[in-house]
Amino acid sequence: MHVATIADMPDLDEALPEHVRANRAAWDGFAHEFTEPGHQNWSTNEISWGIWDVPETQLRLLPEDVSGQDVVDLGCGTGYVSAWLARRGARPVGIDNSPVQLATARRFQAEFGLEFPLHLGNAETTPFDDAQFDGAFSEYGAALWADPYAWVPEAHRILKPRGWLMFLTNSALITMCFPEQDEAPAGTTLLRPYFGMHRITWEGDDSVEFHLPHGEWIRLLRDTGFEIERLVEIQAPVGATTRYSHIASPEWANKWPSEEAWIARKRA
Ligand SMILES: C[S@@+](CC[C@H](N)C(=O)[O-])C[C@H]1O[C@@H](n2cnc3c(N)ncnc32)[C@H](O)[C@@H]1O
Repeated sequence: MHVATIADMPDLDEALPEHVRANRAAWDGFAHEFTEPGHQNWSTNEISWGIWDVPETQLRLLPEDVSGQDVVDLGCGTGYVSAWLARRGARPVGIDNSPVQLATARRFQAEFGLEFPLHLGNAETTPFDDAQFDGAFSEYGAALWADPYAWVPEAHRILKPRGWLMFLTNSALITMCFPEQDEAPAGTTLLRPYFGMHRITWEGDDSVEFHLPHGEWIRLLRDTGFEIERLVEIQAPVGATTRYSHIASPEWANKWPSEEAWIARKRA
């Protein structure tokens, strides 16, 4: 199995869209903060999701049986979701825009003795074949950091007919409640418009996020050729704790959804 190394990659930085270039620089900088949580997730076989670690046994975001499936992790980061799926018999392939995140993923692959292909690239324009995968997923990867008008059609292209798509990101609601300064938790005031929500930047860093209103996610997914199966709005359990307290308090996230997961299937 060929695992791509940074040295394999042409330096296409200057050819990248502006937000992809900005997010590469940003994530190369953020990466060190995600080493420890990534390691913790690689160390466990129990799948749990998001900032409140809600168990998969409760949320059921993934197909029950992924064994033998070719799956792609769009914005794989440190690769722990792929690792969870590999241990369940899937054949994951990761793609990520940050060389530093991929270096962490490769270190964890070596440490845990679990190798799968990792590509440096943009999830909006992947090197994969048409209909290559049975499933595509993104846990706070492309789902948050890539333009949905580009990555959703790309996910559709590389999925087989009836292939599944699952992505998890910040909720549309919380996105309206974040103060302008990065690293400050959501409050209880709507601070930006819902209609037209798309490309979002914050004071204090140069990264670019993407969020859509629910009606627009539904329109985009359906127009692209997906059937929507479920929207799961994640509620923080009573007494939950999180290392990401700069996003929301447990009380906030127990009353309102801080995260949402969309589950869709490519029409045959
Ligand atoms: C929060 S991390 C994902 C965490 C991941 N689920 C894990 O297992 O570690 C977000 C990732 O999205 C990646 N990313 C951002 N923009 C991207 C793009 N356009 N294409 C691919 N990956 C991207 C970042 O480099 C970063 O590694």
